[in-house]
Amino acid sequence: MLNGTVGRPVTHRLPGMSDGLESLLDGQLAYYRARAPEYDEVYGERAFRSLTDLVDELPVGGDVLELACGTGQWTVRLAGRADHLTAVDGAPEMLDIARRRVEAAGLTATFEQRDLFSWRPQARYDTVFFAFWLSHVPPQRFAAFWAAVAGAVRPGGRVVFVDTDAAERLTERAAPGDRATVLRRLKDGSEHEVVKLFHDAAVLAADLAKLGWTAQVDPADGGFIRGVARLTDRSARD
Ligand SMILES: C[S@@+](CC[C@H](N)C(=O)[O-])C[C@H]1O[C@@H](n2cnc3c(N)ncnc32)[C@H](O)[C@@H]1O
Repeated sequence: MLNGTVGRPVTHRLPGMSDGLESLLDGQLAYYRARAPEYDEVYGERAFRSLTDLVDELPVGGDVLELACGTGQWTVRLAGRADHLTAVDGAPEMLDIARRRVEAAGLTATFEQRDLFSWRPQARYDTVFFAFWLSHVPPQRFAAFWAAVAGAVRPGGRVVFVDTDAAERLTERAAPGDRATVLRRLKDGSEHEVVKLFHDAAVLAADLAKLGWTAQVDPADGGFIRGVARLTDRSARD
């Protein structure tokens, strides 16, 4: 069982998307904190290789900010390409693993623990990167998240992201109700409800356009989408 400070199994109450959103997002972070030691098992060899190729082809450079870095699977690759890399996650357990991975590779990065639902950037970057994070941002927080990201992008900079595509819905267990959430089980048997949106590439690009981004979002092999977004009218936001 998870202890009271790290995880809250979903056994008593399933918070809804409008009812108990804060509680749902707290539970989501608690789930990832508890999952950190077993997280890397998600990357089977084949999936990891195709994702590595995908990430390596993305336009990443200059000062880079990685959001929701997890165990650092991408952090270590980005660190080799960035002038400087800052990696952020809400889970200290994830950050510890990521830090060790980057150090073991003889690379450097700055690690910061932040809750991305209240995060306000203190600096601007040439590239803001996130992998498998956007699908965990609920619709009610989508615009606020992208507004925060806009504040982290230097003029001429870009946002680069990778996530699961709409077809991956079939690989998850939807939670009861219409909350865009799924149920996940950890090795200790505990069950957790997390937000999981399966973005369609074209719909996502259109949604981002409404928020002032020019985004190219494409399906990628292996059940993924890849996106590159730039602020459409930078001057309106600076
Ligand atoms: C699906 S994992 C992605 C990790 C990594 N980017 C990858 O591709 O392997 C989602 C990450 O979001 C982090 N996370 C969850 N809720 C968060 C929050 N509110 N603020 C910051 N990070 C959070 C988790 O700790 C986890 O590392």
